[in-house]
Formats: sequence, C-alpha cells, structure tokens
Amino acid sequence: MKLIDLRSDTVTKPDKNIIEEALQAELGDDEYGEDPTVNNLQEKCAELLGFESGLFVSSGLMGNQISLLIHNSPGTEVITTSDSHIKNYEHGAASFLSRVQFREIDHKDGALNLDSIKSVYEKSKVHKPQIKTIAQENTHLASGGSIVSYNHLAEVYSFAKEIGINIHIDGARLWHAILGEESTTNYGNISDSLTFCFSKALGAPIGSMLLGSKEFITEAREYRKILGGGMRQVGVIASMANKSLDLRERILEDHQKAKDVFDFISEKQEFDGLFKAEYKNTNMIFLKFNDGANSQNFIKNLEKESVLSGLINDKTVRLVFHKDVSTDDLVYVKEKIYSSSLI
Ligand SMILES: Cc1ncc(COP(=O)(O)O)c(C=O)c1O
Repeated sequence: MKLIDLRSDTVTKPDKNIIEEALQAELGDDEYGEDPTVNNLQEKCAELLGFESGLFVSSGLMGNQISLLIHNSPGTEVITTSDSHIKNYEHGAASFLSRVQFREIDHKDGALNLDSIKSVYEKSKVHKPQIKTIAQENTHLASGGSIVSYNHLAEVYSFAKEIGINIHIDGARLWHAILGEESTTNYGNISDSLTFCFSKALGAPIGSMLLGSKEFITEAREYRKILGGGMRQVGVIASMANKSLDLRERILEDHQKAKDVFDFISEKQEFDGLFKAEYKNTNMIFLKFNDGANSQNFIKNLEKESVLSGLINDKTVRLVFHKDVSTDDLVYVKEKIYSSSLI
C-alpha cells in the first residue's frame, strides 16, 4: 500500500530528471567562489527577484537566521507575527545566535497590521528595545499558506525605510504567492533580504537561496562559513535546485489538488459536526476542529489507511498537497477523509 504523505511539502522526493542534473553539473570549489553551477544559480535567482546578489544556503532556517545576524545586534527587536516560523519553529536560533527579541504584531492572513507597526514603533522610543527588523512570511504558513499581497508588503517596506529599519521576507514558499496570485517578482524593491526554499514544493532535495544587496551577501557569506555552511563542490546540489526552479509552474497543480479536496470537504455537511476546512489558494488545507472534537483520532484513523496528515495544534490538522500526490491518490484521500471522520 502506497503511503500518501500530506504532512508537508518538505517530504517531496527529487524526480529522476532532477537527480540527473547533478550528474552533469559543472563543479568547482565554492569556498573559492569557483563553482560555476552555484554562481549561475545565485545570479539567476537575484535577477529573477530583483536583488543585487544571492547566496546558496543549506536551509531556509540558515537564510532566515543569517539575515537576523546581519540586520540586528544583541538586545534589539524583530517585529513579526506571534505564529511566524522564524520565531516559533527555528529551535530558538534567533535568541541563541543573534540574541534578539521578537515583538508580535497582529495580522490578517500573514499581512502585518501597519497601524500596529506604527504604534509599536512610537512606543519603542522610550524604555523599550530598539526595533531593527520586520520579518514577514510569504506565503504565511500558520494562516494555512495564505498569500500576502505585494502591495501590502510594499506599504510596510515604505514605512520601514522612513524609520530606517530592515525588512526580511521569509519566502520559504514564495513561488506559491508569485505564481498563485501575485505575479510581481520584484521583491528587491520591497525588502532588504529574502529567503526562499528549493526543498519544499519545488521538489529539490536540499537548499535555499538568500538574496540581498552585494554588501549584505558578502557579510552573509561570512556568517554562512561561521555556521559551518560553507561547502565545496556544491554545484551537485545547486544543479538540482536550479532544475526545480525551472519546473516551478508545476506547483500550480498542487494548488489545484488542494482546491479539489477542499471543494469535496466543503460540499459534505457530514463534516460540519467535526471540523471546518480552510483553503487559502495555495497548496494547503487546514481542518479546524470544533470544540470537543478529537483531531488526534482523525489523524490516527487516516494513518491506519496510509494517509499521513500534520497536527499544527490540538485543534488544527494540516493537509499539504505536492507533486508526489497523484490524481488517483486524491480520489483515495477524499474517500479516507470521509471514512476517518465518521469513526
Ligand atoms: C515558513 C517557513 N520558513 C522557514 C522554514 C525553514 O526551512 P528549512 O526547513 O529549510 O530550514 C520553513 C520550513 O518548513 C517554513 O515553513
């Protein structure tokens, strides 16, 4: 029985055509800046998203944390949402490495409330730590993979520049936002640094890209080395990342798969007593369980049928659709969601 893993898009495995890239990659020592495959990928990503420079890093976490190390100094603050990845899911790296605090701001589907930012900034002038960075996520994971509009990010950036602070975008799933709703790619115009991941829905096995100004990337290279992230013939990995980026349009199929299952759930009144489904136009469905309903039982029932789902919190189950879920799998998944919810 095939296991259908809907816990995350990080579980995707590289296809043969991606692995084949590694065999043909032109290589060099990237610590000398001499790996042509890495250099090409860095330049290509910088150009695609409107930045001066790029740095291939091992993970999204590394890209996020290097950015905080550069933008902040110990004891200063980072504005973000209470549920952001950079604050909650990076194993305390921000307090361990850059020794910063997070200042939480209310948001709607990941879009930070600009009035709240302004008010927090005013209040920070007396008796409060200095705010140095605003970290935003696009798409916003905790809101179900919601897209934060480019225009909103531009407004936040414009205020940030007025008061002289930096914007970092955790764009682990940025391409879902760009291809999904927001066709604008010029993120260099609305942020000081940005990370996106190749190793999630794009389907590469390893790697993320960190983007910024030339000066920022020179400093980032230093921090990457300090963190043990300097690599040698890393074109082997970068070649696969590059191919996954070329195939990026296929993530739109994941959006369609999620929508298909969401429509199925929405049409069935039988689910009303158990949970309400939310879909934010990308590759995820969040099932919000009613008070008293047991989300863990639902997960266990699905697992017995070889369908894995993710528990976000006691009341929220996540289903993430990706390239390794076929159309036939979708039929099976719908059937099992239905039967697992009736037990
Ligand atoms: C929104 C977001 N940011 C950052 C990361 C970190 O990426 P990585 O697992 O490559 O460190 C993740 C990982 O799932 C994520 O979902």
